[in-house]
Amino acid sequence: MKNFIIAAVLAASSSGLALQAQVKEHPVPRLVENDGRYALLVDGAPFLVLGAQSNNSSDWPATLPKVWPAIEYLHANTLETPIYWEQFEPQQGQFDYSEVDTVLAQAREHHVHLVLLWFGTWKNGSQHYMPEWMKLDPQRYFHVMNKEGEFVDSPSPFAAASLEADKRAFAAFMQHLKEADSERTVLMVQVENETGTWGTVRDYSPEANKLFDGPVPAEVLKAMDKTPAAPGANWEAVFGPEAEVYFHAWAVSRYVGQVAAAGKAAYPLPLYVNAALRDPLTPGAPGTYESGGPTDNVIPIWKAEAPAIDILAPDIYISNTEAYLKVLDLYHRPDNALFIPETSGAVHEARFLFSAFGLQAIGYSPFGLDYTRTRPVRPGESDAQNVFLEPTAQNYRLIGPMMRDVARLSFEGKLQATAEVEGEPTQILHFGNWDAVVSYGTGGRGPAKGNHDPIGRALVAQLKNNQFLVTGYDCRVDFRPAGTEQQRKSGNIVVGTRQTPSALIDAKWQHRQFLHVEEGAYENGAFKFLCILNGDQTDWGLNFSLEPEVLRVSVATY
Ligand code: DGJ
Repeated sequence: MKNFIIAAVLAASSSGLALQAQVKEHPVPRLVENDGRYALLVDGAPFLVLGAQSNNSSDWPATLPKVWPAIEYLHANTLETPIYWEQFEPQQGQFDYSEVDTVLAQAREHHVHLVLLWFGTWKNGSQHYMPEWMKLDPQRYFHVMNKEGEFVDSPSPFAAASLEADKRAFAAFMQHLKEADSERTVLMVQVENETGTWGTVRDYSPEANKLFDGPVPAEVLKAMDKTPAAPGANWEAVFGPEAEVYFHAWAVSRYVGQVAAAGKAAYPLPLYVNAALRDPLTPGAPGTYESGGPTDNVIPIWKAEAPAIDILAPDIYISNTEAYLKVLDLYHRPDNALFIPETSGAVHEARFLFSAFGLQAIGYSPFGLDYTRTRPVRPGESDAQNVFLEPTAQNYRLIGPMMRDVARLSFEGKLQATAEVEGEPTQILHFGNWDAVVSYGTGGRGPAKGNHDPIGRALVAQLKNNQFLVTGYDCRVDFRPAGTEQQRKSGNIVVGTRQTPSALIDAKWQHRQFLHVEEGAYENGAFKFLCILNGDQTDWGLNFSLEPEVLRVSVATY
């Protein structure tokens, strides 16, 4: 990245034409919405975070050298890395900017962006990143109290001194970013980390109990679409068994909302919070999941209490396909852009990046992808380092060069993407007059049986009425003219492969033909034509292996 975009303009002067350099600053990254679709604008255009999050203790001068080689291997365009409050404010009111400056400088050297994670009051429900001077004063910076009256390993959202300290520190950090980052290396900031509390559903301190027995605030009633039976009804009366978890979400989101607002006032970067999830398919009772954070059941409370937070983002450590897809669905809402700040980069989960693209995600970032803590190796695998990086690297090698086009087409509503689901060997993507038919486990020429390991994925974007950008891995993509709903339901999928039994072809059905299938490569962000594919390469549909391949396909009917 360059410090400035220099635009040379010729201007007339009395002595002739003079060259003037017009210096334009990079605009601050921002999240925009149009028609329910979101984009993260970086340098004024939609951008996709193809990220990787480092391990928790990797953001130190001694450990960063083990981070960058992994980022390079991955072809990630963004590193998500923590900023530790304990390092940032070693003495109260004295801020140490050295670590922020180090990671900024090194990210620029490596030509990657940053998403910085403010490990402040909360880290995985605890207060472990509070500076020592706070840890040593638990009366002032107090913890949550459980039902038995004991303090637990979680900061109280009612600790006013902690809130004030976090607001000041976070604002100082954001102010510093504003001054130190005119290049806009930093795209977004995560406020806290997996906020909430484990081990008790809410704070049972006398102050908290008093509020819990008092009326539910009007904005919470509105957010949860509740009208109390009697005016001034308390939490229990309004929300029954969910009352305690809603109450804690209200308290935590109000706290985090104020920290976020203080930071945003200093520097208005997009801000998000990450969520430790509850089971998306069969959520357990309150108490079985982290309470108070932005779990799916309290999203409206968080939206109402923390408007300075732009995105509520799920950390997805789930391998079950249905559950993974359900989480994407829960956090992809008209009032919430989909962003996945943490997930597993394992071979079976990597395909879900495409499911996220299908729901218009603005970014995605598997966790723990650096060389400070190499994951266990599976039996029979030799390259210990690449085993855990390779599935994500595979995705980013393909999408990285075309990232700006993918982001733009997604924001324009022209892009669809999907990942293989067990027991569903064919998936249909609808594009007006055309359907894209994605098949898995065809062996190139056979019918769709589903891959042995369900790792297929596909991405299709409509460039013109009859022209598509197509890519994917381990799948076949073909096109058919969109039929009526009845024709679709009849299963008459006419994709023009030689296997299509003629009995299935409706006489009135229009068949597709390829006008041309261009293979290309993205260079400097633009599709560059390489060759026309025909014959064996198209007669059986467009087959994608695990080699990165991008096609521009024009179709017509006969
Ligand atoms: C989720 C947290 O947000 C991360 O910081 C990390 O602790 C992972 N869990 C587990 O390694």
